[in-house]
Amino acid sequence: MPLHIDLLTLFPRMLDGVLTESILGKGIAANLLSVKIHDLRGWCTDKHKTADDRPFGGGAGMVMKPDPVFAAMEQLQTPACRRIYLTPDGVPLTPAIAQDLAMQQHVIFLSGHYEGIDQRIREKVIDQEISIGDYVLTNGTLAAAVVIDALSRFIPGVLGEEKSLTHESHTGTLLDFPQYTRPAEFRGMSVPEVLLSGDHRKIEAWRHTQQLEKTRQVRPDLFEKHRHASRH
Ligand SMILES: C[S@@+](CC[C@H](N)C(=O)[O-])C[C@H]1O[C@@H](n2cnc3c(N)ncnc32)[C@H](O)[C@@H]1O
Repeated sequence: MPLHIDLLTLFPRMLDGVLTESILGKGIAANLLSVKIHDLRGWCTDKHKTADDRPFGGGAGMVMKPDPVFAAMEQLQTPACRRIYLTPDGVPLTPAIAQDLAMQQHVIFLSGHYEGIDQRIREKVIDQEISIGDYVLTNGTLAAAVVIDALSRFIPGVLGEEKSLTHESHTGTLLDFPQYTRPAEFRGMSVPEVLLSGDHRKIEAWRHTQQLEKTRQVRPDLFEKHRHASRH
């Protein structure tokens, strides 16, 4: 059974296009995964469809109310589903997390808004909390799209060439090497000789050196991790 994803959001139209374009769009069209976006206001029962309220204890902004989210989860959840809240104070997204999600049968994403969501939602109807980085978005819908895109690459068949996963940045501990395509000479800039040599051993060695150098410069933390792993 392909993975089914439900996304609960107050902004269901924010992802227009995301689910029909490019590799993710093709994967969905080929039924390798399915994604359904739900408007959380459908579970707001008062006549103004109120999804938020003022925080107890005071402070700026509004907090998403528990009742619509509990009702939505109770309707959508299945025994084997994983319920995920996107939040900047969650565990940072990694390829391992994306791969683990790709192996599930059913995932429900909850996007927050305003100042966040009532803590009781997090305690009772959420299994996992994911951040897509150390910055704050206005709501979690784009964050959910990022996680869906990242996990889709681990679903067999979504990437045409399974091989294209192997060298990517973050699949090992090193960042990716630079890529070139035709023309070999462009506005006075030429492609590194080695890539035109046809010598695969030399090409591999050059790419590895480039990966090391890039990682050392841009992500010294990953570089140290790599050095440590290579020693053991
Ligand atoms: C303005 S943020 C709330 C931030 C919250 N007050 C805090 O400081 O943790 C509104 C919503 O955007 C989403 N969001 C913002 N930044 C995010 C990030 N880096 N990763 C995942 N979700 C994020 C969450 O769903 C959050 O509930």
